[in-house]
Order: sequence, then C-alpha cells, then structure tokens
Amino acid sequence: MTPLEARGLHRFYRRGDTEIAALRDVSLTCAAGESTAVTGPSGSGKSTLLSLLAGLDDPDGGAVHVAGHRLSHRGPAAAARLRASHIGVLTQASGLFGHLSVEENVVLAASLGRTGGPAPADLIDGLGLTTVRRSLPRTLSGGETARAGLAVALAGSPTVLLADEPTAEVSRDEETTILDLLDAWRPRDGAAVIVTHSPAVATHADRILHLVDGRLT
Ligand SMILES: Nc1ncnc2c1ncn2[C@@H]1O[C@H](COP(=O)(O)OP(=O)(O)O)[C@@H](O)[C@H]1O
Ligand SMILES: [Mg+2]
Repeated sequence: MTPLEARGLHRFYRRGDTEIAALRDVSLTCAAGESTAVTGPSGSGKSTLLSLLAGLDDPDGGAVHVAGHRLSHRGPAAAARLRASHIGVLTQASGLFGHLSVEENVVLAASLGRTGGPAPADLIDGLGLTTVRRSLPRTLSGGETARAGLAVALAGSPTVLLADEPTAEVSRDEETTILDLLDAWRPRDGAAVIVTHSPAVATHADRILHLVDGRLT
C-alpha cells in the first residue's frame, strides 16, 4: 500500500484584497521506504504542503491519502485519529506538551500510535535523551528539543514521518546527529517527507522536490 499520496493540491490564502496561491496543483507519491526532501525559498509553500500532508489543514482542491485512507476533508476528529495511527509530525513548534516531561510526551505518543513501534525507553536512550527524560520541554536546548520532537514523532511507529525544518535551530554537529538518528529510527515500511533549507539534509534523502511559488519544479 502506498504510504502517502497527494493529488492536485491547491491552497489559497486571503490577505486583505489579495489572494495568495500558496500551493498550485501539487501532486506527489511517496513509496514505502522512500525519503523525500522538499526544498524551496521562504514563502514557496513548504510549510503549507506539510500541514496538508499531516491533515492539520485541508486543501482547497485535491486530496491527500495516507496508507490508503483519505485524510483531507474528513473533519478534525477523524484527521486526528488517522494522524495518531499513521503520521508522525515534527513541526518547528516541536509538538511537545509543555506540562509533560520528555518521557511522558514520548509515552503518550506511543500509547496513541500503532503498536509494534520502538519502546519509549529505547527511543529516549537511542536519541540521546536519557539525561533530560524527566525535564520539561522549555528547559531543553535547541538540539534536545529537536531530538525530543523526533522521539514523539517516531513513538507511534508512523507510516509517514513529516518534518518541517527539523534542523533549523541546531548546530552543524547536531544536524549530522539528527540525520543519523532519523535514518536509524525511521520505520522501514514507511515514508518520510522532510522540509529543509539545508543542502546536507536534502542530499541525504532519496529524492529532492523543489517548490517555487507554490509549484513543484
Ligand atoms: N495562515 C496564512 N494566512 C495567509 N497567508 C499565509 C498563511 N500561511 C502561509 N501564508 C502564505 O502562503 C505562502 C506560503 O507560505 P509557507 O507555506 O509558510 O511557505 P514556506 O514554508 O515555504 O516558507 C506565503 O506567501 C505565506 O505568506
Ligand atoms: Mg515554512
């Protein structure tokens, strides 16, 4: 089954009297085991695309299917259920609950996701989070926050891993670490889509898609 398929996505925003076409007729298919990097200048629609692929936002045209289920235009409750069981999202806002420790965040995500994923303790140790496992998110460094967000995204053994600039706030060394961890922990039967500005992250992926003015080039 195809982990992720987007067909003819359009998304328009209105700002005052102007209409902004954030995405225009974007289609992509991600095969099992395949990683895709999405690059493009600021404002080209990368985050908009990721939100649609995550079911956090609905397209104005087109549809998104995850593991054979239609994700778009299902309503927030159904989208949240599909996301919990099939999609790991790593956004720039980290997606961690601020009142829960790193460990509690990972355990919660694991309990909502697919079974058969990595044990939370293994994920925490494997991502180098052992010493901060009882810490609250606001006390973490940029690199720790990115790794904790990755642990939460992977905890539910997702069919699809989506990450929006996961290494934007980290040093070069930490970026390499995160890329290696992504590779090591990514579900083998799943697909990954990673939005990035970093050439190192992009060349690490199986293929690179480029967005300009809301279109794939
Ligand atoms: N909620 C919103 N309301 C209005 N315009 C938006 C909104 N979100 C994004 N945009 C606009 O859509 C375009 C694409 O934005 P975005 O997807 O965030 O780009 P990127 O992630 O590539 O920087 C930009 O012109 C941006 O200003
Ligand atoms: Mg963005």
